[in-house]
Amino acid sequence: TENLKDIADFPIGNIVSANRLASTSATNQKFKEVLSQEFNSITAENDMKMANIFRGPGDYDFSDGDAIVAYAKENGFRVHGHTLVWHQSIPSWLQNFEGTDEEFENLIEDYVKATVSHFAQEKMSFNGEEVPVVASWDVVNEVWDGSSLRNSLFRQRMGDDYTAKLFTWARDADPDVRLFYNDYNIAGEPSKRNAILNMVNNFKSNNVPIDGIGMQMHLNHNWPVDDLSTAIQDVAATGLLVHVSELDVKVNYDDQISQLTEERAQAQEEQYQRAAYNYTQLVPADQQYGITIWGFRDQDSWLYEGGSDWALLYDEDFNTKVAHRGLVTGLRGE
Ligand code: G3I
Repeated sequence: TENLKDIADFPIGNIVSANRLASTSATNQKFKEVLSQEFNSITAENDMKMANIFRGPGDYDFSDGDAIVAYAKENGFRVHGHTLVWHQSIPSWLQNFEGTDEEFENLIEDYVKATVSHFAQEKMSFNGEEVPVVASWDVVNEVWDGSSLRNSLFRQRMGDDYTAKLFTWARDADPDVRLFYNDYNIAGEPSKRNAILNMVNNFKSNNVPIDGIGMQMHLNHNWPVDDLSTAIQDVAATGLLVHVSELDVKVNYDDQISQLTEERAQAQEEQYQRAAYNYTQLVPADQQYGITIWGFRDQDSWLYEGGSDWALLYDEDFNTKVAHRGLVTGLRGE
């Protein structure tokens, strides 16, 4: 049959958790089977986020990430690290930290360097090359709120140029790992995209290290597609790697259906096809970092909401939905 990773000319990813990889339940055996058949890149859905690692000053728990890296090495997956810094993943002790701004910034610098160095250690062979298992990191996620800098704790504590500092620290810790900026609505919100591309171009002119841009691509079946090709072209024009990092397609954002209808399943199929097609056509081959899907079964998605949306590629038994056919078609460049 048509396995995604065999069709694509670039890595195809999906998300995992240490719990799922460790579990031998029938469901998780099936999950691991599909993971191996269809994908060759993995991202930790939550386990490598700051809230899950940073226990206190100088105190890091890398155990879940280590389990994922060990599984990846054993089974031949590239790991994309997600995400060093994100305003939605701050441990509560740090949220409540009462030290000075300088102390706060030192904690973050130590965290970034310790985490990147830790995960730089394991190496594997991937596509015939000796590479680090954790090949890349989303250094920072969702800095922009439309065309304004989001007023996150990091911005308040570290200043408007905190993003540049994060990239510099990550590079100090590992000269080779690929460093990504990741955000949503890069396609769909031109003013936000322009703000991000300005930042990236400033990085490039000021020698702030950055290797790639992650376009999350949380779409919906009715999402206006006219901006998609412009967005991908604009991002590719930076010359950086382009990662579609969190693809999924909501079908019930307007709360109009109680089960997936044929019409919306078809619209969803078309969105998956378009996303993949545009990527294959508009991103030069040497900038194609890959497409990562944000989940397997509809019911496991962050969008499932107790059974009211069906955003992904597989049903409850891991059978492919028509959405999968759309993705296959797009990956073929059709
Ligand atoms: O593990 C705990 C569990 O012990 C507890 O009982 C339960 C009660 O709420 O929470 C569980 O943790 C949840 C975790 O997912 C695992 O299911 C967190 O509350 C919940 O906030 C967390 O949501 C994740 C979210 O990021 C926030 O970190 C989603 O799984 C994950 O899919 C989502 O992914 C993000 C990307 O990182 C960035 N881009 C947007 C994307 C979607 O929001």
